Amino acid sequence: MYDSERMRRRSMSECICLKLSSQGCQLHFSTMDSASQTPRRVNAIRQSFNMEDMFRLVETPVYWVGALTSALLALWLVYKLVSGFRIWVLGNGDLLSPKLGKWAVVTGATDGIGKSYAEELARRGFSMMLISRSQEKLDDVARSLESQYKVETKTIAVDFGEVDIYPKIEAGLAGLEIGILVNNVGISYPYPEFFLHLPDLNNFINTMINVNITSVCQMTRLVLPRMVDRSKGVILNISSASGMFPVPLLTIYSATKAFVDFFSRGLHAEYKCKGIIIQSVLPFFVATKMTKIRKPTLDKPTPDRYVAAELTTVGVQDQTNGYFPHAVMGWVTTVLAPIQLVIYLGMRMNKGQRAGYLRRRKLR
Ligand SMILES: NC(=O)c1ccc[n+]([C@@H]2O[C@H](COP(=O)([O-])OP(=O)(O)OC[C@H]3O[C@@H](n4cnc5c(N)ncnc54)[C@H](OP(=O)(O)O)[C@@H]3O)[C@@H](O)[C@H]2O)c1
Repeated sequence: MYDSERMRRRSMSECICLKLSSQGCQLHFSTMDSASQTPRRVNAIRQSFNMEDMFRLVETPVYWVGALTSALLALWLVYKLVSGFRIWVLGNGDLLSPKLGKWAVVTGATDGIGKSYAEELARRGFSMMLISRSQEKLDDVARSLESQYKVETKTIAVDFGEVDIYPKIEAGLAGLEIGILVNNVGISYPYPEFFLHLPDLNNFINTMINVNITSVCQMTRLVLPRMVDRSKGVILNISSASGMFPVPLLTIYSATKAFVDFFSRGLHAEYKCKGIIIQSVLPFFVATKMTKIRKPTLDKPTPDRYVAAELTTVGVQDQTNGYFPHAVMGWVTTVLAPIQLVIYLGMRMNKGQRAGYLRRRKLR
C-alpha cells in the first residue's frame, strides 16, 4: 500500500520537459512537488519547447506528404479526365454493327428504354427480334422499324411474368445469328410501399422475380452458347441505379436489380476471354411510362437520349450508368456519400412519394 501511494505521488509530480534544440532532442526528467513548483515548471517548458525548432523538424516530412498527396490527386484527376474523354467523347466507334451478328434481340421492346434500343440498333442496320407482351404493340413497332430503317423484323409475344415461355422463345430464336441481346424487360412498384403492405404480396414477389431476374438468366442461357461458338457477341443487361445501393420502399425491385448487376459482372469475367461483352447498365431516372416522368430534364433524359449515350459505353465500361449526368450521380451516391445517408435519403424521398400517392388515391 505504501509503495503504491509513493508511486502515485511520484507520477503526479514528475515533470517531463521536452527540450528541442538545434543539436537534437533532449528529454529532461525532473522530480518536484507539483503544487509548489507549477509556475517554475511551466516556465521551464516554455523555454525548452521552442516552436520554431519544432516546425523546422517536421517541415520536410510534411512537405513530402503534401507533395505526394498532390501528385496522386493530380494523377487521379488526369486518369479520370482521360477515361471520361474516352467514354463520353470518343466512344466505341463502329463496335455495335451487324458485323457482330445479323440480329439484335430486345426484350420489353414496345415502350420506353427497350423501344429506344430497338430503334437505335435498327438504325445501325441490325435486323430486329422484338419480344414483349402485347402482339398489337409489337406489330406497331416492327412496322415502324421496317419502314423507317428498311430492316427485317420478327416478334415474339410472351409474358415474362410466366416461367413456361422459354421453349416458345427458343423456337423463335432458332437459326438466327444473334449479335446483340438487350435484356431490358423489367417492372417496378406501382408506388413505393412497405414490404408487408404490398398488395397481393405472394404474386407480386413471383412476378417481379420472373420478369426482372429469371428473364435475364434464361434469355442469356438461350443466346450465349451460339455467341461463344462464334467468339463474338454483346449482351446488355439493364439493371438500375437502384441496384447500386438498397432503396427502401422499393426493396424487392432494388434487390432484383442488384442481382442483375452482379450476374452481369460475374458473367463478363467468365466470358470476356471468349470474345463476349456483357455489360451491366445502371440508369438513374429516365422519362418513361415506368417512372411516369412526362417532362424530361438533363438528369431525367428521354429514353432516346439515354440509349444513344449508353451505346457509346459498350466495350469501354463493363458496368455503366450509361449517361454522363447519371455517372456523376452514381459517383456521388456510391463514392462520396456514406451509404447510410443514401439509404436514409432514399427512405425519406420514397415515404414522401408514398404519402402523395395514397393521398391522391383517396381523393379519387
Ligand atoms: N425508366 C427508368 O427510369 C429506369 C431506371 C432504371 C432502370 N430502368 C430499367 O429499364 C428497363 C426498362 O424500363 P422502362 O422505364 O423503359 O419501362 P417501361 O416504359 O415500363 O417499358 C417496359 C417494357 O417492357 C414490357 N413489359 C413489361 N412487363 C412485361 C412482361 N411481363 N412481359 C413482357 N413484356 C413486358 C412493356 O411492354 P407493355 O407495353 O406490353 O407493358 C414495355 O415494352 C427496366 O428493366 C427498368 O427496370 C428504368
